Amino acid sequence: MTHSHSHSHAYHQSNSHILVQEFDYFEPSTLREALALREKYQGRCSLVAGGTHLLIMMKMEREHPEVVININNLPELNTISKNSRRELVIGACNTIYDLRHNAVIRNHYPALSQACQSFGSTQIQIMGTIGGNLCNGSPASDTVPALLIYDARLSIANPSGTREIPVRDFLLGPGKINLNDDEILTSIILPPPPENAVSAFIKVSRVAADLAKANIAMLLVKQDDKVKETRISFGSVSPTVIRVDKVEEFLKDKKFSVNIAEEAGKIAAEMISPIDDVRSNAWYRRELASVMTYDLLNQLWNQSPQPTGEAKLDTLPRSQTKKTDSFHLPATQRKEIQLTINGVSHQIPVAPNELLVNVLREKLQLTGTKYGCGLGECSACSVHLDGKVVLSCLLLAVAMDGREITTIEGLQSKEGDLDPIQEAFIEHSAFQCGYCTPGIIMTVKGLINENPVPSEDEVRDYLKGNRCRCTGYISIARAVMAYVENQQSIHR
Ligand SMILES: Cc1cc2nc3c(=O)[nH]c(=O)nc-3n(C[C@H](O)[C@H](O)[C@H](O)COP(=O)(O)OP(=O)(O)OC[C@H]3O[C@@H](n4cnc5c(N)ncnc54)[C@H](O)[C@@H]3O)c2cc1C
Ligand code: FES
Ligand code: FES
Repeated sequence: MTHSHSHSHAYHQSNSHILVQEFDYFEPSTLREALALREKYQGRCSLVAGGTHLLIMMKMEREHPEVVININNLPELNTISKNSRRELVIGACNTIYDLRHNAVIRNHYPALSQACQSFGSTQIQIMGTIGGNLCNGSPASDTVPALLIYDARLSIANPSGTREIPVRDFLLGPGKINLNDDEILTSIILPPPPENAVSAFIKVSRVAADLAKANIAMLLVKQDDKVKETRISFGSVSPTVIRVDKVEEFLKDKKFSVNIAEEAGKIAAEMISPIDDVRSNAWYRRELASVMTYDLLNQLWNQSPQPTGEAKLDTLPRSQTKKTDSFHLPATQRKEIQLTINGVSHQIPVAPNELLVNVLREKLQLTGTKYGCGLGECSACSVHLDGKVVLSCLLLAVAMDGREITTIEGLQSKEGDLDPIQEAFIEHSAFQCGYCTPGIIMTVKGLINENPVPSEDEVRDYLKGNRCRCTGYISIARAVMAYVENQQSIHR
């Protein structure tokens, strides 16, 4: 038997439980510092924001940066503000989850809010950033179709200044973007939508927590019985996310009818260039493009315009970013980090490539947190970071200095009593294979922290990334709803 040492071989053999590769780690504290590092290590470094793409690429041995620069906490990239032209300026490191729940985005840019809601799992939404979503250059991105219909622009910083480009000029091909090795995407600029515009996003995927087979974002402006303007874009059906200009031109100033909507769908199906892959095939994607165009046109035609006027920013809750001093940790050295785990402070020396899950399980013997896929797909490794549910298999331990972690062990009271959610899981037989249960319970606990009385739909949506392959979600949903009802009756 011969052995191939190709990349695909390396990928199939990768051990996703550890991050094998060694790299120097930098945590700059200002954008200026980050740009200087980017310039110095040009071509040898990767930026990390949420890490939900980069760490997977490194675990799969598809990317081998010598240097990793963490930009996630840079204050300049974590703001949302309005500029003098009344445009919304979203810092590149805002998370998908924060954007999903942002009232301004929900009211004025609903397709973007819906795109964020449709995204992977809750944990991926909480960790992943909008800048990371643009910069991984995926044709299946969910936020990019929405950004295209709002004519978004990108602000890109480099050592000599900044440049601004339309999102459509940023996308060059699968994984290819218009960004130089010394540049950092700093913000996404959304102009106010046209007067009386309505807009929405739809995604079709194999299961709720998955990349799209196809997605569509559409903006429509009516004038009496005519379509004044449309903007339509698709993801997952071409080498990049695309605007379908021909469909937009066809619809312009046409009197609306279902026949026109059907015709528009046919033109969309002709304009795209889908491929066969694991998620779908080219034929089905064309059918989808046609049907989704028809459905969304009809939906928007019958929808009343969203509130116009100035986007108010006072409703913006931003999660606190951690203040850090900049530091450099060489690949072969250790840094002593301080972690508060389940209320107890620990000083732990870690190397740049150690993951939070390794520290918890191997250094602290907190083995309640489980290791499943190691690639963000199963959520078995869920823990809380400052009260929010995250995946410990995709977090660099060194980046956690000074943070608060809660694991399943932390749910027990001092007297050793189980948490009422754990009791409800036992009572309603939601403790299934057992291996996934700690991750599921930590996820439910994350939901309850945010929303003490969720509906069953909200419970199911929040848990969409916690994969069960043995039984299903009926007992789990029943246990959570029983817990919620019990809490309500206690507080009544
Ligand atoms: C299980 C799972 C489900 C997913 N589901 C979805 C989904 O439904 N829809 C979807 O669109 N995506 C999905 N993704 C992909 C990914 O999570 C998103 O693209 C996410 O937004 C990436 O953001 P990040 O901050 O985690 O990126 P990172 O991994 O930190 O960065 C991604 C890339 O962009 C570069 N980068 C990041 N920020 C910047 C910046 N400001 N300037 C320049 N370069 C930068 C990094 O160097 C890296 O190359 C999924 C991923 C997983 C693992
Ligand atoms: S082990 Fe972390 S998501 Fe599967
Ligand atoms: S609960 Fe673990 S596979 Fe079903």
